[in-house]
Amino acid sequence: MRLILLGPPGAGKGTQATQIAQQYNIPHISTGDMFRQAVKQQTEMGVKAKGYMDLGKLVPDEIVIGIVAERLGKGDCDQGFLLDGFPRTKAQAEALDKILDELKSPLNRAINIEVCHEDLIDRLTGRRVCKECGSTYHVLFNNTAQAGKCDSCGGELFQRDDDKEHTAKERLAVYNEQTLPLINYYEEKGKLANIDGAGSIKSVFEQIKKALRSTG
Ligand code: AP5
Ligand code: ZN
Repeated sequence: MRLILLGPPGAGKGTQATQIAQQYNIPHISTGDMFRQAVKQQTEMGVKAKGYMDLGKLVPDEIVIGIVAERLGKGDCDQGFLLDGFPRTKAQAEALDKILDELKSPLNRAINIEVCHEDLIDRLTGRRVCKECGSTYHVLFNNTAQAGKCDSCGGELFQRDDDKEHTAKERLAVYNEQTLPLINYYEEKGKLANIDGAGSIKSVFEQIKKALRSTG
């Protein structure tokens, strides 16, 4: 299964991606996670990416396309993959088409998770992430997050710098301007599956599985 996850910041892409990757036994490729890792390791790419991420802006296409092309060329993607947070611009979508054409591996589905603006702000500003294992929590929906410790590993929870309200709003504005047009792009190709992301994590996952049952 070759899938992409579309949807605004905070829609629940990362949350659902973990479960989808497990269910269909495909690698979860998150460009956001790849950049955060590079920032942590202070690689040359990480230093460049940090400047954009801290402002809530997109990292330039040529950097992102390069790392995704390299990642999709690895052997574990032969049987499929789940791209989370890529593509985010028309240039990235066209580059992905080209890469998949060359690999003779067409995309099966673009899953678009829809959530209203107010809920997105709440989800982003209330998100907490484990410093050790990267698990995601929410201050309103998980008691664990209020206690400040990770359920899985006991690690300390922190707030991502780009989840502060000002930057979260900027990320949503950037999404509306640069990423929203991709919904039409995939609809025209007959690949789009719209998912109502307002329900519980479980009910959103059920909808996704249902949408993928009809995928060839
Ligand atoms: P990235 O990490 O991709 O961030 P994003 O798209 O903004 O997505 P998020 O991780 O914020 O949200 P999510 O949809 O995964 O939500 P989550 O599941 O955590 O990108 C970060 C930055 O990297 C970008 O700003 C950019 O600078 C750069 N970048 C990355 N990719 C790029 C690209 N392709 N091109 C250029 N630049 C790129 O859920 C959010 C919260 O809600 C959590 O607390 C969760 O517990 C809670 N939650 C989830 N589902 C539910 C539910 N159903 N009900 C209640 N709460 C829920
Ligand atoms: Zn943890």
